[in-house]
Amino acid sequence: MSNGDVSQGRRRFLIGATSVVGGVGVVGAAVPFVASWNPSAKAEAAGAPVTVNVDKIEPGQQITVEWRGKPVWIIRRSEAMLENIEKLTPRVKDPESAESSQQPAYITGTYRSLKPEFIVLVGICTHLGCVPTYRPDVAPADLGDDWLGGLFCPCHGSKFDLSGRVFSGQPAPLNLVVPPYRYDSESTMTIGLDPEAA
Ligand code: FES
Repeated sequence: MSNGDVSQGRRRFLIGATSVVGGVGVVGAAVPFVASWNPSAKAEAAGAPVTVNVDKIEPGQQITVEWRGKPVWIIRRSEAMLENIEKLTPRVKDPESAESSQQPAYITGTYRSLKPEFIVLVGICTHLGCVPTYRPDVAPADLGDDWLGGLFCPCHGSKFDLSGRVFSGQPAPLNLVVPPYRYDSESTMTIGLDPEAA
């Protein structure tokens, strides 16, 4: 038997042993899990989509919903906010959402949304995972005269605009994530489902 045969045989054994151990683990874990099965645990385990009525959100207002254990923000952007986003384009790192990991393929461009009015963002900083704060105020004393509204991470100071686009030269390397979502009607959206999902 050559060395190659030995290592191949050993590899087969290792794969087999791993499968058995994995199988035992699954059976062992199934008992307490099934015993605690209830609708909310079921929804959480499945990462269930979350349907939100966005009708009552005022222009400029941000709400937070939980999806897959993460804070997801929905912000209703006013006309002035949309104009400021355009103005900030020269100062952001990935202005046209080219980095494909940060949003679904149907989210493109400056506004990073299905409709300009509403932006949906996972509220977790792309640097080390802190939750940024919503700072829609223009030129506040602590953020400076050139602040036109956005999201500010208090942990290490990363700044994002109201499309979740990170400014150039920040600790955070990437734009905030836009999760999959779709509109079910004019006033409701579902986070966690793509527009073409049934
Ligand atoms: S975690 Fe947000 S800037 Fe570091």
